[in-house]
Amino acid sequence: MSSLDTIRESWATRAGFILAAVGSAVGLGNIWRFPFQVGQEGGSAFLLMYLFFILLIGLPAMLVEFTVGRRTNRNAVGALRKIGGRAWQYVGGLFILIGFIILSYYSVIGGWVLRYFGGSFTGGYTADSEAYFFEIATGFDALLFHAIFMALTVGIVALGIKQGIELAVKLMVPSVIVIMVGLAIYAVTLPGGTEGYTYYLSPDFDVLASEWRSIVPAAAGQAFFTLSLGMGVMITYASYLSKDRNLAEDSGVIIGFDTGIAILTGLIVFPLLFAAGIGAADPGPGAIFVALAGAFAEIQYGLVLGVLFFGMFAVAALSSAISLLEVVVSYAVDEYGMNRPVATGIIGGGIFLLGVPVALISDGGNPIVIDLYDILAAEILLVIGGILVMVLVAWFNADLARDELSKGIGRLGALGSLWIWLVRVPVIAVLLISLGLAFLGYYEFLSDEFIPFVSG
Ligand code: PFF
Repeated sequence: MSSLDTIRESWATRAGFILAAVGSAVGLGNIWRFPFQVGQEGGSAFLLMYLFFILLIGLPAMLVEFTVGRRTNRNAVGALRKIGGRAWQYVGGLFILIGFIILSYYSVIGGWVLRYFGGSFTGGYTADSEAYFFEIATGFDALLFHAIFMALTVGIVALGIKQGIELAVKLMVPSVIVIMVGLAIYAVTLPGGTEGYTYYLSPDFDVLASEWRSIVPAAAGQAFFTLSLGMGVMITYASYLSKDRNLAEDSGVIIGFDTGIAILTGLIVFPLLFAAGIGAADPGPGAIFVALAGAFAEIQYGLVLGVLFFGMFAVAALSSAISLLEVVVSYAVDEYGMNRPVATGIIGGGIFLLGVPVALISDGGNPIVIDLYDILAAEILLVIGGILVMVLVAWFNADLARDELSKGIGRLGALGSLWIWLVRVPVIAVLLISLGLAFLGYYEFLSDEFIPFVSG
């Protein structure tokens, strides 16, 4: 039996599939990246654009990936080849590249989470939460915990223990929700937090009007990143589904969970940041770590909450990391007939190496290589991957897609045509605009920040 059959078996139930997909979607993107982006991109203006993109782009794009996966029952590269012919397998190759890049820095941040989880037993991290973050974000500790996080990810994927992943996810989703709701309620009681809510929730159209050039690509990139779209994860997961599943319903549930957890994170982080006097103006990649570690130092039972929170955070990050690695590994196993543990070890080792500069290079304590990788992967590469799959499906294989979506739903009627039209015109147009803006933004980042930094 090939490894793919093994995976297909475990995703055979609806709960298994949904939990796996939620496990992939809910991760650092919701708890780390989302508040960081909100802080960088003007608060509520970004939130508004992000929610709009989740509905306008995220939902139709997820349906596209699901229909491709279920139709072909193949891994991401094989799936595109089957639908589009040989040339399209290179888009699959792009997915593999994206997986490499994202996991390399994802694992460094996952390492921070593990480090905070360890620190939360003693509360050692809380003394000066900002200084602590800068101390551990780059350097030897960062490298060590990057190695541990990567080893855990490799270990699970190498064993192919889908039951293990499913079990972790079954515990994770409810626990994350309970802990997040608890923290959000606590945040309400904080004096000085009100400004945080205003910053996060009251729509500021002036910021939107003046900053749309960076808000649009950031929001589109975040929509793809948080929903695990644009690199074949959802294609792969849906390839293990039976034909009677209602894909539209499942997408709604997955997106609902993912968006709910992101919104909750903002309801925790911003009041805490403002209450702690840190504020939210561009808090950088350390936002969530600084805000929460500082808060856990103050509150009753803070230590216990810290252990629970960072423990759940680590599991959430791991269940996403596994899905990233799985796309690459299943490709190596399928297309080259490699032995799974060997393939996982080699690929994991390569990804670890790619993450070494992220863990070691700092700009005055700030882990600057994260931006170099993250903007490239999330705002440029995922969006290119997404556009290409949507062109393939909506422009060249619309009948097939409608037919596939209708299985498990029944007659689609006008909704099916609306979906295809949405993808064909507005979704692709918005993504192309975002991509153009992202190129400009990345060029600016390189010329204003990164190159001056490298050239000292
Ligand atoms: N969706 C994950 C998160 O929000 O943390 C990250 C991710 C996983 C992105 C898988 C892309 C992907 F293919």
